[in-house]
Amino acid sequence: MATERTLTIIKPDSVAAEKIGEIIVTIENSGFRILAMKKLRLSRSDAEAFYQVHQEKPFFESLVNFMTEGPVVPIALERENAIAKLREIMGATDSTKAAAGTIRNRFGTNIERNAIHGSDAVETAAAELKFFFNETELQT
Ligand code: RTP
Ligand code: MG
Repeated sequence: MATERTLTIIKPDSVAAEKIGEIIVTIENSGFRILAMKKLRLSRSDAEAFYQVHQEKPFFESLVNFMTEGPVVPIALERENAIAKLREIMGATDSTKAAAGTIRNRFGTNIERNAIHGSDAVETAAAELKFFFNETELQT
């Protein structure tokens, strides 16, 4: 399996709880290399665009409210089988059902306030990385 890239976002709940450091340690200890990282606050239109795949879902407005309530930390990551591996250490969407020791189990609260994002496929990872980072930033 070749080296692959994925995107995580440390969500507003984890940033507010001052868990950026612990989450990055967990990710680095799981074999990921950080390619690029920033801290920013999403506008409503940014959050709506990022999660546009969910625009028809009943939870969409609540999700946008959550993702814009405070700053987030998007991080471009690289390792072998990065997309699947990140989703493994992230845990299930619903933090109350996420396996013990996963990031969502440790730092999330419920199905919405679930600590971090992880890309779900090669195509979405590429689009999501572009959403936050330009080519130069990803060349490290
Ligand atoms: P993500 O995209 O953030 O990595 O999460 P995911 O793949 O595990 O879950 P997804 O189905 O893509 O949902 C995106 C985000 O929407 C919120 N959500 N709320 N209230 C609900 O039923 C509900 N379902 C999902 C979560 O913040 C989820 O991560
Ligand atoms: Mg998703």
